[in-house]
Amino acid sequence: MPASESLLGRDLISAADLSASEIWILFDRARQLKAERRAGVEGRQLAGRTLAMLFQKPSLRTRVTFEAGMAQLGGHAVYLTNDVVLGARESVRDVARNLERFVDAIVARTGPHEVIDELAANASVPVINGLSIREHPCQALADYLTILEHRGTLDGLVLAFVGDGNNVYHSLALVGATLGVEVRLSHPAGYAPSPKIVDRAREIAATSGGTLVFASDPGEVVAGADVIYTDTWTSMGQESQAEERRDAFRGYQVNAALLAGARPDALVMHCLPAHRGEEITSDVMDGPQSVIFDQSENRLHLQKALLVETIAGPAGRAG
Ligand code: CP
Ligand code: NVA
Repeated sequence: MPASESLLGRDLISAADLSASEIWILFDRARQLKAERRAGVEGRQLAGRTLAMLFQKPSLRTRVTFEAGMAQLGGHAVYLTNDVVLGARESVRDVARNLERFVDAIVARTGPHEVIDELAANASVPVINGLSIREHPCQALADYLTILEHRGTLDGLVLAFVGDGNNVYHSLALVGATLGVEVRLSHPAGYAPSPKIVDRAREIAATSGGTLVFASDPGEVVAGADVIYTDTWTSMGQESQAEERRDAFRGYQVNAALLAGARPDALVMHCLPAHRGEEITSDVMDGPQSVIFDQSENRLHLQKALLVETIAGPAGRAG
């Protein structure tokens, strides 16, 4: 990677916003920060810096990892939920134009994806997507870091996603396309990913050597895959469809029988929160192939890397 490359001041709205070399900057920084934390020699790269966290949906991992990450880097995070109902008490644009005067970055978990776009368009500080109905880029970046740690390389990687063509799949497909991964998806009829995202991922994959593969039979996508990935059948905001979704996705459970058709060393992944007995069984989730809680931990390290790189830039690398 060229030493001059920098993410200083950049937004992360879509997983497609980052080039392969920018993703590798984040992986390298995350591995460094993780090692420093393990060794008890963390720096204070973000001393005096503040992160605003606008959350309009619940969260365990995203909230705690961003808050803890800022504290570990010597900075501070302000969690805003019902106080700031975006677009209700004041417009999204005005919220952005206030926050940019107070803080050094904003992470937002909104309902409609367009709200994040609008925040980013109106705030001069970096805006990070902490999950929207369309994408979850921080999750996908932490997930590929986790695979890299377990496999030692991303070369020749085949990732099979079983379930909903949702926000998590979208970001995994886009980061995977950038990194040259074969990303497979098996979903029931009616739960396909966004054609726009698939087209974009295919466009990116055409230059990286990646591929997107689709099959209705989950057994077909897991055969020979290095990673079996699943997510909830009902994402936040879709609760009224839970019952029809349970019916539609019944044959798409990641269980011991499905795993038996995969490589014996295949990794099992889930972004969490999991619904044990629905999209994944407890024996598989807690089994020897599961790296689910490593994924969760890596949200912390990857996002700290993102905060250092976007708020402090190359100057923050020295610690
Ligand atoms: N995986 C994830 O983003 O979890 P939370 O919804 O708890 O933040
Ligand atoms: N697809 C899930 C991911 C949660 C982290 C949702 O949007 O609810």
